[in-house]
Amino acid sequence: MQIPDALVDEMLKAKRVAALTGAGISAESGIPTFRGAGGLWEGYPVEKVATVEGFAEDPALVWRFYDERRVNMRNARPNLAHKILAELEKHYDMWVITQNIDGLHREAGSKNVIELHGNIWRVKCTLCDYHGENRETPLSEIPPKCPKCGALLRPDVVWFGEPVNGVEKAFRIAKESDVFFSIGTSALVHPAASLPFIAKDYGATVVEINPQRTPVSVIADFIIREKATVALDALFRELYKHKK
Ligand code: OAD
Ligand code: ZN
Repeated sequence: MQIPDALVDEMLKAKRVAALTGAGISAESGIPTFRGAGGLWEGYPVEKVATVEGFAEDPALVWRFYDERRVNMRNARPNLAHKILAELEKHYDMWVITQNIDGLHREAGSKNVIELHGNIWRVKCTLCDYHGENRETPLSEIPPKCPKCGALLRPDVVWFGEPVNGVEKAFRIAKESDVFFSIGTSALVHPAASLPFIAKDYGATVVEINPQRTPVSVIADFIIREKATVALDALFRELYKHKK
């Protein structure tokens, strides 16, 4: 595939680069996306498994849903797209703002990561201040209990209706970016989906990488209708030619 020369030029000039990522970037690591046929939300009422109210009503059901996802994710490894974004930290003031909870950006080596929707490998207590990592798959106890106080643990992820993590920082990064990528997200869930629009308003070059059209397509300066690995590999090879 061909990367437009004008995009390569923008990348060669850029200092601050950011990427908003969604489930599509982890699809090639074998993790299902949310929307569309066979998507994760199909068959699961979102209000039951991804809200505080749903958890209060049936914590075991919610934990079975997350336990199943954790089991499906446990062998997933970062793919070339995660790795290239991590590599870009060597060349740019680079930030990854992700909606994914799989932890694959950090595993790929990215340091500057904002996990807007939390992390499925972390748990927190519903009562005390306990929070920590938990990688047991499958869980031996459902629902799991707090090792400190014995109350219910919950996944350290953001549910619908809850505030997202690091939102102010994410908005600041969007405003300050020279190039802003939107990669593998349907750009439907706010506030994450607002970030490419904010970046554009503040003068960034907006690049969409997604095989499908999204609301970001309307404002994107460049659109690459390819899988994330293919698009980022092609882009990185072009930049490498210029030794950036
Ligand atoms: P979606 O499932 O809504 O969208 C995935 C996007 O990835 C679609 O636009 C696909 O076209 C695209 N895609 C699929 N394969 C791809 C590939 N190989 N390379 C690039 N793009 C590809 O997932 P998100 O946009 O991440 O929130 O969903 C956002 C949020 O909605 C999630 O974080 C989750 C969900 O409800 C919460 O749980 C709070
Ligand atoms: Zn506790």
